[in-house]
Amino acid sequence: MKLKRLFIYVVIGVIALNHCIAQDHAYLKADKQLLNVIQKNFKDADAQYKIMAKQLAPGEFPKSYDEATKKLVTSNSGWWCSGFYSGTLLLLYEQSHDPALLTEANHAMDGLVKEQYNTHTHDLGFMMYNSFGNANRVEPKPEYKQILINSAKSLSTRFNPKVGCIKSWESKPSDFLVIIDNMMNLELLFLATHETSDSSFYKIAVTHANTTIKNHYRPDYSSYHVINYNPETGAVQQRKTAQGYANESAWGRGQVWGLYGFTVMYRETKDKKYLEQAEHIAQFILTNPNLPGDKIPYWDFNDPAIPNTYRDASAGAIMASALLELCRYADKKEAIAYFNTAQTIIKNLSSTAYKAAPGTNGGFILQHSVGNLPQKSEIDVPLSYADYYFAEAMKRYQQFAAK
Ligand code: GLY
Repeated sequence: MKLKRLFIYVVIGVIALNHCIAQDHAYLKADKQLLNVIQKNFKDADAQYKIMAKQLAPGEFPKSYDEATKKLVTSNSGWWCSGFYSGTLLLLYEQSHDPALLTEANHAMDGLVKEQYNTHTHDLGFMMYNSFGNANRVEPKPEYKQILINSAKSLSTRFNPKVGCIKSWESKPSDFLVIIDNMMNLELLFLATHETSDSSFYKIAVTHANTTIKNHYRPDYSSYHVINYNPETGAVQQRKTAQGYANESAWGRGQVWGLYGFTVMYRETKDKKYLEQAEHIAQFILTNPNLPGDKIPYWDFNDPAIPNTYRDASAGAIMASALLELCRYADKKEAIAYFNTAQTIIKNLSSTAYKAAPGTNGGFILQHSVGNLPQKSEIDVPLSYADYYFAEAMKRYQQFAAK
C-alpha cells in the first residue's frame, strides 16, 4: 500500500515537473497566413526533393548544387551531412504521407547504416540522429533503436575524461580539438540513455556540455569555434576559428549550434544552468547590432565587410528551429521575443529572396547559405542542413497553431 502511494506521488511529481518546464504558452499563437505559406512550402519541397532524388546515383548523398555546371554536389555516407537528406525526406513525409518520400528516405538510410560503427567522426549525431532518429519517430522499429545505440557507442569512444569532451577533429597527438558544432551530437547520447538506461551516455553529454560552457564561451556569450585542449591534462592550449572570420569573431553558424545544443541540454536534463546558457546565447544573437532586420545572420557576426557580405540561410533556419523550442521554456517576455524572431525568419526564408523557385536549385529548398568561407568552399549556395532545419522549424511552428 505504501509503495503504491509512493509510486502515485512520483508520477504526480514527474507530471508537475514537466508542466513547469514546458510552461503554458497559450499566448504564442501561429499566424494563420504563415501557416498557409508553410503548407505551400512543404508541398513545393516535396516536388523539389523528388527532382533531387532523380539526380542522385546510388551511394550519393546531396551536399549542395553547383549552378555553373547545373549538377548536384554530393558526398559519400561518411561526410557529416549524409543524414540530412533522409532526415528532410522524413520531415516532408510526415506532412504529405507521400510513400515515394518514405521509400527514398529508406533508400538513403540503407547507404548510411554502416556509419553506426564509424569511430573516426564526432558527427554521428548529425548523420544518424537526424536520419534514423526521425525514422524511429515516424515508424519505431527495434533495428532503428539498435543502430542509434551503436552510433552513440561509437561517438562515446571519442570522449576523453581528462579533457571532459568528445574529440571533434583528428590532429597531431598533442592536440585535442573540440568545435562548438559538437553540441549538436549530444542529442544522440540522450536517446541512447532513454533506450538503454545506461547512464554513461548521459554523463558524457553532461560533461561535454559543462566543459563547453567553461571554455568555449566568452563573457558576452559568443563562442569560439575551436578549442584545442591538451589531451593529457585537459588544459586549454588554443582558442581559435576554422570556419569563422577570425579567432576572436563570432562565426554565425557556431552561435546557433550552441543555441540549439544548450536548448536540447535543458530539455534532456532539466538543469536550469543550460536554460540560462541558451538564453544568454539568444540574448547575444538577438541584441547583436549586426543581426539584420530580416533576422537571417551574416555568415560571421564580425565580418568587417557587413553589410556587404554573405548571409547564411542555414544559420537562420537552425536559429528559428532552436528558438521555437527555447520559447517553450522561457518566461513570457523572452518567449515572445524568441517566437517572433523565429516567425520572422520563417517568413523571410519563405520569400523569393531565399526560397528557390520550383524546379531550380538542384531540388534544394533554400538558397544562400555559407559552408566554409575561409576555405573558399560552399559560398552562397544551397546546403542540405539549411533545408533540414528549415523543415524542422516549420514543423515546430505548426505546433503553435490554435487547437
Ligand atoms: N559542422 C560543420 C558546419 O557547421 O559547417
